[in-house]
Amino acid sequence: MSDDIYREIILDHYRNPRNKGKLSNADVSIHDNNPLCGDEIDIHLKVEEDKIKDIKFEGRGCAISQASASMLTEMIMGKSLNTVKDLTKEDILENIGLINLGPARIKCALLSLKVLKLGMIKYYADKDPPSAMKLSDDTKLY
Ligand code: FES
Repeated sequence: MSDDIYREIILDHYRNPRNKGKLSNADVSIHDNNPLCGDEIDIHLKVEEDKIKDIKFEGRGCAISQASASMLTEMIMGKSLNTVKDLTKEDILENIGLINLGPARIKCALLSLKVLKLGMIKYYADKDPPSAMKLSDDTKLY
């Protein structure tokens, strides 16, 4: 697909975010921001039988950070925790179609992945500490 089409898709997600809102029965809710600009994302997860049963996000910020969060929710809805745990930054950049972003914009695109991984660390903290440790190493990469 051409860059223009990806740009259109990102603007569409920014203007009409998918899975935006709160989740009253969430197993995990987590909030973080991009310290460079203050843009924020909250992610709420409902887990059932080791799968993402439901996910919602809230946020405020630039088009890339908010569109990327919206696209991330669609990407992982219904997926197993193992799959989600192993998501890489390359998976996210490929999913949103922006491979050649500068370093500042990469932080925008990866903000929701960072928040998701922080949420999973919280989820695994009691249940599976080694997984929580591994995820905590991952988040240092963003
Ligand atoms: Fe703040 Fe993009 S400018 S996350």
